[in-house]
Amino acid sequence: MLRRLHHEQPESFAFTPANLAWAEGQITKYPEGRQASAVIPLLWRAQEQEGWLTKPAIEAVADMLGMAYIRVLEVASFYFMFQLQPVGSVAHIQICGTTGCMICGAEDLIAVCREKIADKPHVVSDDGKLSWEEVECLGSCTNAPMAQIGKDYYEDLTAESFAKIVDELRAGNVPTPGPQNGRYAAEPLSGLTSLTEYDSGKTQYNASVQLATDIGDTVKRIDGTEVPLLTPWIGKDGIVAGRNAAAPTPKAPETGKTAAQQAKPAAKKAAPKKVAPKNAAPKKAEKAEAAPAATGTAKKPRTLKAPRKAGADDLKQLKGVGPKLEQTLNELGFWHFDQVAKWGADEIAWVDDNLKFKGRIERDGWVEQAKILAEGGETEFSSKVKKGKVY
Ligand code: FES
Repeated sequence: MLRRLHHEQPESFAFTPANLAWAEGQITKYPEGRQASAVIPLLWRAQEQEGWLTKPAIEAVADMLGMAYIRVLEVASFYFMFQLQPVGSVAHIQICGTTGCMICGAEDLIAVCREKIADKPHVVSDDGKLSWEEVECLGSCTNAPMAQIGKDYYEDLTAESFAKIVDELRAGNVPTPGPQNGRYAAEPLSGLTSLTEYDSGKTQYNASVQLATDIGDTVKRIDGTEVPLLTPWIGKDGIVAGRNAAAPTPKAPETGKTAAQQAKPAAKKAAPKKVAPKNAAPKKAEKAEAAPAATGTAKKPRTLKAPRKAGADDLKQLKGVGPKLEQTLNELGFWHFDQVAKWGADEIAWVDDNLKFKGRIERDGWVEQAKILAEGGETEFSSKVKKGKVY
């Protein structure tokens, strides 16, 4: 399993205000000098926000925790829960290929992945929606073969039932997780031999699947557009329970500033006038404006040979566009926010192809951001760019 940083990286990363407030809350869980203990939750939240772990995200987390970049990269590259390359916008499928699952048909499941998603692992499907990989034992061996999709397990799979699940996900549906062969949980296939008085009919599904179904977040990412702040250990006075003072804020090695100074989050303080919604889960009121999903029917958008007389817009104010991508966009004939704002699904597919970075536009919500900026508004990210606070 070769795990290294992807060869193409975005220019920047910043937690959304809600995710940043959550991340800073996590840091307060740990005693002074031990903030590095928050590295896994912070990396995980960064991945939830972006879909995968980028180099700028790893560096941003390192800065927040006062850690050397290499230490955080070591963590990110060790655990296969962290994705170091772009993944499908709908789901990344992890097939267990260890002995139990292998002898029960994991290779058939991998064949389905090759046929329906991409020939190779870690390659995003042509429609940008799905990706897959083989992983080691996921601890559900009694229900082999199985796959982890998003936050849940799909068990007792066959090539047929798994192919159906892939089709459903691609169509925008989320199939019920858990055993797919009618088993309630992990009881013997031939029926119960003990605890026969146990009434398995109390809930429709076993406890794990019932919870997954009730919560309904199997493939939904915590993208930071709306997230409750779960920091009950911090009192109203800002004092962490059991301590005399609030947890310390580590200094970032390069800047000497605290994470809070660098990113100025705080739900109340930082509430931006207009925040570009993330593509994965636009808020209700914003749904009508959300960019349509790319269909793969590429159509070249209207382009310009040069910027208009008033000069080109600073496309770097779009989250996910750095100097290199801005230059590429200019070379393709895009100089202004209103050009990007007009892209529909087909145009996105064309630009996606030409950027050779599938799913990027939708993942970062370029069209939604461009609409706000073209009308003279600001996004949280654009105001940070203007103030030179993007790290
Ligand atoms: S062998 Fe597949 S879950 Fe353990």
